[in-house]
Amino acid sequence: MKKTIFKNYEEMSTAAANIVAAAIGAKPNIVLGLPTGSTPCGMYSNLVAMHKAGKLDFSQVKSFNLDEYVGLQENHNQSYRFFMQTQLFNHVNILPQNTYVPSGTAKNLEEAAALFDKKIEEEGGIDLFVLGIGANGHIGFNEPAASMPAYTHVVDLTKQTIEDNARAFFGGNMKAVPKKAITQGLATILQAKKIILLASGKSKAAAIESIDKKILTLNCPATMLHLHNNVELLVCN
Ligand code: GLP
Repeated sequence: MKKTIFKNYEEMSTAAANIVAAAIGAKPNIVLGLPTGSTPCGMYSNLVAMHKAGKLDFSQVKSFNLDEYVGLQENHNQSYRFFMQTQLFNHVNILPQNTYVPSGTAKNLEEAAALFDKKIEEEGGIDLFVLGIGANGHIGFNEPAASMPAYTHVVDLTKQTIEDNARAFFGGNMKAVPKKAITQGLATILQAKKIILLASGKSKAAAIESIDKKILTLNCPATMLHLHNNVELLVCN
């Protein structure tokens, strides 16, 4: 596992965008795995700038997002679909039908989860997955637990994640944060051909230290990335 520590958030975001842009350049019909959260915002704005400068073409790109809150409509301003539209999709020439975000409002969520995995498989699998990380080491919404479903599934959010996300996105209102989410499973994620993980700030230091220990534990789901042979950590303070 390669790890690069950047001087600041801007440098980390530029490096992440360069990795994604190079991958799109090498394979214009690439299948991307994409994250939400505050960490990847800088990467997304760099990608938008490259596209607007005529240097990056998303016309054949397909994307599969990591996760979505259960119960939020797509146009809810805290849904991950809304986040992706406003951070990236609305500003580049990716085709709407090529952007997949798990549905948090499907009547049968388990069925929707299984169909999501099937769609990834039909598209030939994810070539490059960009990940963020939760303070507790979660990836997507795979929360620390004794065991967890391997593939895309519905999950109960932990108190820490609800608090973290209330602070960051829901104006501090814990009651407004959905208690469940649908997330790609660790096995879904680990099937990607290449993975980069972005971590910014002190709140992620403990989770990154856990990865550094090279011990696999579901207490810190991100440690499972050691099972993959092409992972790069991009870290800044
Ligand atoms: C949410 C998302 C994760 C993301 C995490 C960190 O919980 N489900 O995919 O990595 O937030 O968010 P931030 O980058 O805002 O710290």
